[in-house]
Parts: sequence; C-alpha cells; structure tokens
Amino acid sequence: MRRAKISIIGAGNTGAACAVWAASKELGDIVLLDIAEGVAKGKALDLYEAAPIEGFDCRIEGGSDYALIADSDIVIITAGIPRKPGMSRDDLIQTNVKIVREVSQNVAKYAPNSILIVLSNPLDAMVYTAWKSSGFPASRVLGQAGCLDVARFRAFLSLKLGCSVEDIQALLLGGHGDDMVPLPRFTSVHGIPIDQLLSEADINECVQRAKVGGGEIVQLMGTSAYYAPAAGVIQMAEAIIKDKKRILPCAAYCEDAFGVAPGQTGKGFFVGVPCILGKGGMEKVVEVKFNDAEAALFAESAQHVKDLVAVVQKLFPELG
Ligand code: NAI
Ligand code: 2OP
Repeated sequence: MRRAKISIIGAGNTGAACAVWAASKELGDIVLLDIAEGVAKGKALDLYEAAPIEGFDCRIEGGSDYALIADSDIVIITAGIPRKPGMSRDDLIQTNVKIVREVSQNVAKYAPNSILIVLSNPLDAMVYTAWKSSGFPASRVLGQAGCLDVARFRAFLSLKLGCSVEDIQALLLGGHGDDMVPLPRFTSVHGIPIDQLLSEADINECVQRAKVGGGEIVQLMGTSAYYAPAAGVIQMAEAIIKDKKRILPCAAYCEDAFGVAPGQTGKGFFVGVPCILGKGGMEKVVEVKFNDAEAALFAESAQHVKDLVAVVQKLFPELG
C-alpha cells in the first residue's frame, strides 16, 4: 500500500514539531521544505536518525526545492514569522500574507491534489490567503487553531479538576484571536456538565487562560508555542489520512454558518467551526445551536476575522 506523504513548508519551530509528531505516529513519508535549505535538510536528517531508536519507518527528506513536495497528500504551511512579546497575531499580517501567498502558489503548482492545512498567523486570514492563492476548492483548505485552543482549555480544566485530560470534552469556536469563543455550556467531563464540577469563577478562569494561552507562552519563551500547535495540526492530518470522519474544530470555509453573514468578499470566509474531517478534507461543517450570548461572542470573533481578510484584500486586491 502506498504510504501517505506529508509535506511541511517552513522547517522552523512549528514545522519541525509537526514532523516529529507525524513521524512518531508513522503517518507517512515526510518532507520538510524551507528557504533555509540547510535547516530543512539538517532537521530532516536529524529526525530520520531517530527512526531506529523510535522505530518509525518513514522517509524524511528536507530541502528548498518544491519538486520535493510532488504527490503530497497533505501540505502543512507553517512558513512565516511568529510573534514576539508585545505583538498580537494580527501584527504579523503584512509579512506573512506575502509568504503564504507565494508558498500557496507553489503548492498549487507542485502538489495540485493535496489538502492544505495552514498554521501561519494571523491564522484565519492566512487560510483565506492560501485558499485564494492556491485556487483549491474550499474543502481542501483548512486552518489549525481550534484543535490547539480547545486542547489548552481542556488542559487548564484538567489542572483545576485534577482529572485526566482525556475525559474532558469541550467545544471552542471562532477566530484564532484573543476573542476566540470557548463554550462552557458544551463542555463536560466524562459526560458530566462542567458546571456540576467547577464553580463559575473557576470555569471563567480557564476560559480566560485559554483565550490568551498563546500570549502566555510568548511571554515565557519570547516566541510562539510549537509542541501543542503542531500536535493540533497532526491531529487534523491523521483524521484526513485515515479517513476517520473525526469532528474537530478547524478554520473552515463558511458561507453563512452559525447565523453570521458573508464577509466583504460577498461569498464567505474562514473561521473556526466544528468540521467532519476525512479523505476529502473538510467534508462537512457541523452546525451548533447557540444561545444569544454565545451567538454574540461568535459574531464578534467572526467580525474580527472579516476585518483581517479586508486587510489582506487591500494589500493584494487580486485576493478579493
Ligand atoms: P519559525 O520562525 O520557527 O519558523 C518559520 C519558518 O518559516 C522559518 O524556518 C523560515 O525560514 C520559514 N520561511 C519563511 N519564509 C518562507 C518561505 N517563503 N518559504 C518557505 N519557508 C519560509 O516560526 P514558527 O514558530 O514555526 O511559527 C510559524 C508560524 O506559525 C508563525 O506565523 C506563527 O505565528 C504561527 N503559529 C500558529 C499557530 C496556530 O495555532 N495557528 C501556533 C503557533 C505558531
Ligand atoms: C498560539 O496560539 C501564537 O497562534 C500561536 O500559540
């Protein structure tokens, strides 16, 4: 049977961590591509040299030539600058839109049948950029944010409860900004509603910490997180490669989902929603019935995403 092929554009902190998680799950052959050719080649070789110890049988190659990504099933875009302390994700837009646009055009040329998973920030606007620049159908363009953000929420709840992270189920939607929308009403611990186990104050503390979870790490390390973001990407890649039909929160194309009207494009926009992921990529958006307060928070977050897309369209009118 042909092994899946996963190419990762950007062999920096998140790209390399994606390669490690993918190899450890033996998801397929891996390519690391970066403008810094030596870094991509070196990290690929270093990881391959771990294979005899860890026992994964994957080919791992690195370089800067896009011919390497031919026949990829999944292409992960992590190319771009990360934020430094004091910066928001939105501050990265001017630099990263150019990078993501160029990378996506190359992906369309060299791996035209692949499914794209974007990580570069500001995430929702970069997914939009990748969609427009690649010309791929929206079902084959996704962004990773929700898997990470909901994992952070679950991790903080597990610390509060002193129970396994595995038993905590939660839902978190909206854009990948500090106005993302964790939803305690849809959060449970082995089926027990979270408000039967924690006080409102404790739940709110976890909600707030999840919303600014990215910034917490930037303050500590001076750069963005990478282990958990990459784990989120590979959770999505695994669902697609294994056609698992998992429901995961992803930045996916919505025309009028959740009562939010189309963006300035007049058509639709990408925002974090629960999706069924399988071999077709994003196979279905799963609608959720909000109460008024939740709907207002989601609309606010979606408006932020639309404003960022408008910045992209101003910088590159052909992406309108
Ligand atoms: P990094 O600086 O460690 O790595 C980025 C890599 O991209 C560098 O190796 C750089 O040489 C490469 N690169 C730049 N331009 C390129 C191009 N045109 N073609 C190919 N490679 C190129 O940064 P890190 O930490 O890996 O973060 C990458 C991006 O992911 C950032 O924009 C960051 O904000 C974002 N991020 C998003 C998360 C999410 O949940 N969506 C979580 C963490 C980071
Ligand atoms: C994060 O949430 C910076 O988006 C990145 O860690």
